[in-house]
Amino acid sequence: MKKQISIIVAIAQNYAIGKDNDLLWHLSGDLKRFKELTTGHTIVMGKRTFESLPVRPLPNRRSIVITDVADEQIAGCVMAYSIDDAINKFDAIDENFIIGGGSVYKQFMPYANKLYLTLVHKDFDADTFYPEINFEEWHAVEKQENIYDDKSGLTYSYLIYQRK
Ligand SMILES: NC(=O)c1ccc[n+]([C@@H]2O[C@H](COP(=O)([O-])OP(=O)(O)OC[C@H]3O[C@@H](n4cnc5c(N)ncnc54)[C@H](OP(=O)(O)O)[C@@H]3O)[C@@H](O)[C@H]2O)c1
Repeated sequence: MKKQISIIVAIAQNYAIGKDNDLLWHLSGDLKRFKELTTGHTIVMGKRTFESLPVRPLPNRRSIVITDVADEQIAGCVMAYSIDDAINKFDAIDENFIIGGGSVYKQFMPYANKLYLTLVHKDFDADTFYPEINFEEWHAVEKQENIYDDKSGLTYSYLIYQRK
């Protein structure tokens, strides 16, 4: 059976996702939803994203960290040394969430069957961007649009796509 590979990401209007190995905004609603969606599941990330997390590893999830450093081990994480190695270590039945960052999203786009996009309705200055999405390949299965975050003044939408 084909493994379930989902990408979860928050993207600005100009596809910006990060700067200086940090996020570009703080949206407590989005972080809460991220926790709800990923808890109890496998999450997969590049080593830079792992290093950017406030709590490492994120609790109550099985973390796979991808690195080129041969034999590197991180306590509490499953290590993967290539994309294929990570896919081999994915859960066979349950949903596996790709949680970033830019380089890892790009490499997993061809394999993902579901996209959880949080679209922040503003352009941001950034050093890391999400790769181009060909929306011809995806159909929207859920949309929750124009959520206002009063702390940041930002408006955002939750969009869920399934590969056609
Ligand atoms: N907006 C969002 O939803 C979101 C989510 C997550 C992250 N981000 C942001 O994204 C930025 C980080 O992204 P990034 O692209 O710089 O880094 P990244 O993708 O998180 O990590 C890159 C590292 O992962 C390892 N790696 C990647 N592909 C590999 C492969 N095929 N084989 C072996 N190792 C591989 C390498 O680690 P080694 O150097 O150890 O070899 C590489 O240096 C940060 O600003 C972060 O805040 C945003």
